[in-house]
Amino acid sequence: MLKVTDLSVAYGSITALRGISFEITEGEVVAVIGPNGAGKSTLLLSIAGVLKPRSGRIEFAGRNITGKQAEALVSEGISLVPEGRHIFGSLTVAENLALGATVRRDRQAIASDIDRVLAMFPVLKDRYRQRANKLSGGEQQMLALGRAMLARPRLLLLDEPSLGLAPLIVNQVYQSIMDLRQSGVTVLVVEQNVTRALAVADRTYVLSFGAIAMSGRSTELAGTAAFDTAYFGVSREVEQE
Ligand SMILES: Nc1ncnc2c1ncn2[C@@H]1O[C@H](COP(=O)(O)OP(=O)(O)O)[C@@H](O)[C@H]1O
Ligand SMILES: [Mg+2]
Repeated sequence: MLKVTDLSVAYGSITALRGISFEITEGEVVAVIGPNGAGKSTLLLSIAGVLKPRSGRIEFAGRNITGKQAEALVSEGISLVPEGRHIFGSLTVAENLALGATVRRDRQAIASDIDRVLAMFPVLKDRYRQRANKLSGGEQQMLALGRAMLARPRLLLLDEPSLGLAPLIVNQVYQSIMDLRQSGVTVLVVEQNVTRALAVADRTYVLSFGAIAMSGRSTELAGTAAFDTAYFGVSREVEQE
């Protein structure tokens, strides 16, 4: 479904990703974990077409999408839930959800997809006509997920969905990610929250200073010394900076 080959991305003279390669098979949930500044958001923004890579190649469903515009990629089935959610606070829940479907023309199917999203997140139904800035952080995350679903994505990119949320709310958000996977969506989630990422993902990549330090099946990585060194070693160094 997604094949990233030797991807490098820079902000001016700052190199954020250094020759990243990885693949995601259709139907998989894959996590990329790494400490703050590792390059996780840069990776998702590059796949979503928001950032232009310096070099390397990104293929989606067998087609080269390197350098394609973000809007075009939404139409092709790539949906990003950005870090910090980026919902429109002055718009209602209904309006925010409708924005997710702007690339679509199939009015009737949109209406039934909205019903599906509201069934998945009943709290959004209760608050359907309220302004989004009245929602709690967890509700806003659910709205951001729902909005992304309304583009009918084949690949969903989630940037730190647990960020800033209380553990109980994180449970709900992660339960909904599991539900999405049941519905057949392929998911790439980036997280600093190692426990959550390992629990939800079939496979996990550890990103450190813009490069992949380690990868494997999540069940096999968890608790191994090499994994602790790859993730926590780096995270301690970063904390000390
Ligand atoms: N707009 C930007 N301009 C310059 N440097 C940036 C910008 N965004 C991110 N960076 C740098 O790129 C690196 C990776 O950042 P980012 O992808 O946001 O990491 P993460 O999401 O893992 O915290 C960091 O060193 C960060 O400082
Ligand atoms: Mg980030």
